[in-house]
Amino acid sequence: MTSALFSPIRLADLELPNRIVVAPMCQYSAADGVATDWHVTHLGMLANSGAGLVVVEATHVERRGRITHGCLGLYSDDCEAALARVSARDARLAAIENPSSALGRALADGREIDGVLVWELARAGDPTAIAVLERLGEWLGIGIITIVNALNPDVVVVGGGVAQAGELILAPARQVLARRGLPAPVRQVELRPARFGRDAGVIGAALLARESIARRVVA
Ligand SMILES: Cc1cc2nc3c(=O)[nH]c(=O)nc-3n(C[C@H](O)[C@H](O)[C@H](O)COP(=O)(O)O)c2cc1C
Repeated sequence: MTSALFSPIRLADLELPNRIVVAPMCQYSAADGVATDWHVTHLGMLANSGAGLVVVEATHVERRGRITHGCLGLYSDDCEAALARVSARDARLAAIENPSSALGRALADGREIDGVLVWELARAGDPTAIAVLERLGEWLGIGIITIVNALNPDVVVVGGGVAQAGELILAPARQVLARRGLPAPVRQVELRPARFGRDAGVIGAALLARESIARRVVA
């Protein structure tokens, strides 16, 4: 008889192979919020441990919101790039599992498996790279639906580098929204890529600054 601990469990859309969950554990090992080799090893080891789910330590969206100087953050481009390196693991695993795919061949050629490469190969039609982006889109959808259910916005704009993948990521995200959202907010919300892509935040900040200066000049 299989024990309950080692039997699969479904949590909403998430199917876990077993019920072992690794709790989040602050490592106090980040450098100004940036994940280090420690995190690659720590999370990589846990991800390969066989546990059904691994929860990443508290990750702070504001520098001043951190508990200690060693806390993990997601408030700068450096933070984003470092965590991408940790999470590119999904793409690396897909490459290992599908050695004859374009992604698998890129790994065998010694290329760095990062978001840009996955996007390029997905655009060129590699099914393994497309599957990696689809999974990413599903995770994005899960993150967005929490906000949509709580705040009921008309539009959610996805900016930054991830928006470049366009429908490859947004289409699966929309499917998650439709599946998991409350009917009223999901009916009206529109999920679209930022027109200014990576520069959206900078352009928005510049506009705010210009408006603020214009108000002062008028006053
Ligand atoms: C060193 C240490 C770091 C922890 N870091 C976090 C954290 O980053 N985020 C969080 O939500 N909980 C954190 N916790 C709480 C644990 O995830 C867990 O909830 C707690 O240890 C109780 O789990 P238990 O009932 O299985 O012992 C931390 C606990 C310890 C001991």
